[in-house]
Amino acid sequence: MKFFVDTADVSEISAMAQTGLLDGVTTNPSLIAKSGRKMAEVIAEICALTTGPVSAEVTATDYETMLAEGRYLRGIATNVCVKVPLTEAGLRTCRALADDGTLVNVTLCFSAVQALLAAKAGAAFISPFVGRLDDIGQDGMTLIADIVQIYRNYGFATEILVASGRHPVHVLAAAKLGAHVATMAPSTIRALFKHPLTERGLEAFLADWKKTGQSIL
Ligand code: E4P
Repeated sequence: MKFFVDTADVSEISAMAQTGLLDGVTTNPSLIAKSGRKMAEVIAEICALTTGPVSAEVTATDYETMLAEGRYLRGIATNVCVKVPLTEAGLRTCRALADDGTLVNVTLCFSAVQALLAAKAGAAFISPFVGRLDDIGQDGMTLIADIVQIYRNYGFATEILVASGRHPVHVLAAAKLGAHVATMAPSTIRALFKHPLTERGLEAFLADWKKTGQSIL
């Protein structure tokens, strides 16, 4: 399973890249706004920190402008993945960009039939938002299970990028279902490392080691 970090904070991305566990980055207009930086500048910096795909989202809603924005964004670096919303114009843009060899991430997916459309439009990634579905009392993971089944039925190459994941249980459930990618806030990635028994066990080992008076080096 690939791990993407969902942020436009360059220092966080740099720290995540150093773990050796980072496979890519996702951003969205809200995350770019939070960074307080110029989009082209921050995307270029992020692209230099990872060889994996870096999702940069268009902000127009009509086909012609989305396509122009997508072409501009992909020109920033070879690992830019253009993100488009799951609308009719967005999927038309997806098809046009994919036909030109551009990686496209179709975002704001909340139903399995939407995911089917994105795959037919040539998306490299589909981003179902599990946390936002959970927030309104629906089960985000049921959506992931449905998409996994549909994509397997037809052999689509589109990767399922589980987005809006809020905690390690989302990652566990997505991995058990065979989703290709999970994108997470840096705090969620850090939470994956933690277990109270790991911390307690390490404390006990180090206390016993200290009693020996030895040092390895
Ligand atoms: C994914 O690409 C989105 O940027 C992100 O996962 C949205 O997450 P949120 O629902 O926590 O804003």
